[in-house]
Amino acid sequence: MRNANRQLKLKSRPTGLAGPDNFEETTEPIRQPEEGEALLETVYLSVDPAMRVWLKEDPGYVPPVEIGAVMRAGGIARVIESRIDGIVPGDYVQARLGWQSHPTLGAAGMQKLDLGLGSLEDWIGPLGTTALTAWFGVKEVGRVASGETVLVSGAAGGVGQIAGQVARLEGCRVVGIAGGPAKCRFITEELGYDAAIDYKAEPDLAAAISAACPNGVDVYFDNVGGPTLDAALANLRHKGRAVICGRISQTAADELYGVTNVGLLIGKRARMEGFIVSDFNDRYDEARRWLSEKLKAGDIKQRLHILDGLEKAPEGLTMLFEGTTTGKLAVKVAD
Ligand SMILES: NC(=O)c1ccc[n+]([C@@H]2O[C@H](COP(=O)([O-])OP(=O)(O)OC[C@H]3O[C@@H](n4cnc5c(N)ncnc54)[C@H](OP(=O)(O)O)[C@@H]3O)[C@@H](O)[C@H]2O)c1
Repeated sequence: MRNANRQLKLKSRPTGLAGPDNFEETTEPIRQPEEGEALLETVYLSVDPAMRVWLKEDPGYVPPVEIGAVMRAGGIARVIESRIDGIVPGDYVQARLGWQSHPTLGAAGMQKLDLGLGSLEDWIGPLGTTALTAWFGVKEVGRVASGETVLVSGAAGGVGQIAGQVARLEGCRVVGIAGGPAKCRFITEELGYDAAIDYKAEPDLAAAISAACPNGVDVYFDNVGGPTLDAALANLRHKGRAVICGRISQTAADELYGVTNVGLLIGKRARMEGFIVSDFNDRYDEARRWLSEKLKAGDIKQRLHILDGLEKAPEGLTMLFEGTTTGKLAVKVAD
């Protein structure tokens, strides 16, 4: 129904996990677009671990979300009315929509989707921002080379699924770290990871990595941080690279884990580098063309985990940190 804009606003800052208690739903009248704006109907919203960071801290690239503000979120929407040149009703766009059903937004940051590259579901998954994160992290920050061993943590998640497959397609041997036998089977049997480590079943993760990567790790793609990063650094090879993409084990932790193996980088002449996907936003089209080609050839897949209804978004944010998501998490807001 297109007569009201449902919104989820930040009610309180979380301690520990964020979830439904931290948000409240309100309904506002739909705002007609002014010159340079479009009225949109949200179809999919991406749910990302970084959103937990935005609730409390300034991560250095966006300010924290204000109490009482609509929760910040990226997603895909259908254009209902437009006063933006080149965007017409019926188009699909990607934008920072926020947790709301009918946002009215300006053109900045809005991108019209090329559905020739993939479906709407592809645009939220293997052509979406998490996939681009994996692509730039593996190719540009990790600078993987054929024949190298690449270790990926959070391997069954949104970023991790694509990171492993991009590294495999670059000719690397790929080992994934994931929680539980089902996720480990998924990454080896469906995504072509060469080996998987179930970190929840391994009392000594460094030893398990050493067994799975007998020649050491050339590139470690880190989605998790904390003790997992320590275990990976212990196995990094001479001139190895640790790509610091995320640190989900620390994002909602009460007490932070102090990584102790950073000193090993000296003797190994190794590099550890963080990045934000938007560092590469002038090259998104190049990455998407590559991913679309591999997708159409059946060389890349991505499993999505879709929750139904805007009201499920806060619950999704909790699930990411409980490890109960089974793929790239998104909320379906409209058909
Ligand atoms: N740098 C950037 O620009 C950028 C952009 C996007 C995302 N990221 C980062 O990339 C990482 C992955 O994001 P995503 O969207 O793909 O999320 P995701 O991996 O799909 O979802 C989170 C997964 O993390 C794992 N996890 C949760 N708590 C954990 C813990 N304490 N220890 C180990 N694993 C844990 C769980 O999988 P298991 O069941 O396997 O534990 C969970 O399913 C996040 O850290 C995110 O912040 C960075």
